Amino acid sequence: MKIFIDSAKVSEIEEAFSSGFLDGVTTNPSLLKGAVDELKERGEKLDLAQYIERILTVAEGTPVSLEVTEYTYQNMVEQAKRIYERFNPIANNVYIKIPINPVFEGAEAGEFDGLKAIKELSGEGIPVNCTLVFTPEQALLAAKAGAAFVSPFAGRVDDYIRSQNGMRFNKSDYFPAQGMWREEQVLEDNGIVSGIDLVEQIVEIFLNYEVTAEVLAASLRNARQVREAALAGADIATLPLYVIKDLVSHHKTREGMEKFIADVLPEYVEITR
Ligand code: E4P
Repeated sequence: MKIFIDSAKVSEIEEAFSSGFLDGVTTNPSLLKGAVDELKERGEKLDLAQYIERILTVAEGTPVSLEVTEYTYQNMVEQAKRIYERFNPIANNVYIKIPINPVFEGAEAGEFDGLKAIKELSGEGIPVNCTLVFTPEQALLAAKAGAAFVSPFAGRVDDYIRSQNGMRFNKSDYFPAQGMWREEQVLEDNGIVSGIDLVEQIVEIFLNYEVTAEVLAASLRNARQVREAALAGADIATLPLYVIKDLVSHHKTREGMEKFIADVLPEYVEITR
């Protein structure tokens, strides 16, 4: 399974890439806003285009998803092409994020605008990451339209199931892949019992039809969920930096380190200097 960092902070992306095992980057408008707000709060001057170029350069050789902020078919396609033409020449690694369905209250968008945009862009050789996927049906249609990556938002499924059932939780709390039960009934969203269940169902459907789109498990919040995404067969997991660090952490590893370092023989240090 490939590991992407889900961040728009250059410092985080650099730190993650310095590990040597990173396979790509995903951003979204909220992540970009968070990164830029932080820089502004620190009083740093910012040229947004140059900032995005830095992200692309750090991640050279691996895909970087940049999202459209328009939401009608025509506008999304035009903006996507502008993004691609402007930024892809930097490191030849831009993927365009298109929502599966851009309709929301007050938006004059059509239900199929996302799919139409995916089809047109993919047809012109612009790789698309289809975002905001919450059902296997959406994933299947995104793949049929030609998306290279399909991004189920696993953590947000868990958040939704918990909040619909009046639970209090922290976003990084573990949610069991097999779902949660109450009064002998599994809590679910239209047959999806957890974010990982959504990933698993998409992987299974893609295998049934030899779909070539890659399943990009997004919105993952803790290491155990990443393990479960891998067990479910996700092609890619995109993770915030704190989750990437969580992947290499264990209390006993830290404790073992403390003991080994406390036991170091000075002669050993001497001969290995
Ligand atoms: C993925 O591409 C999304 O940017 C991201 O994983 C969303 O994560 P969140 O639900 O933690 O905001």
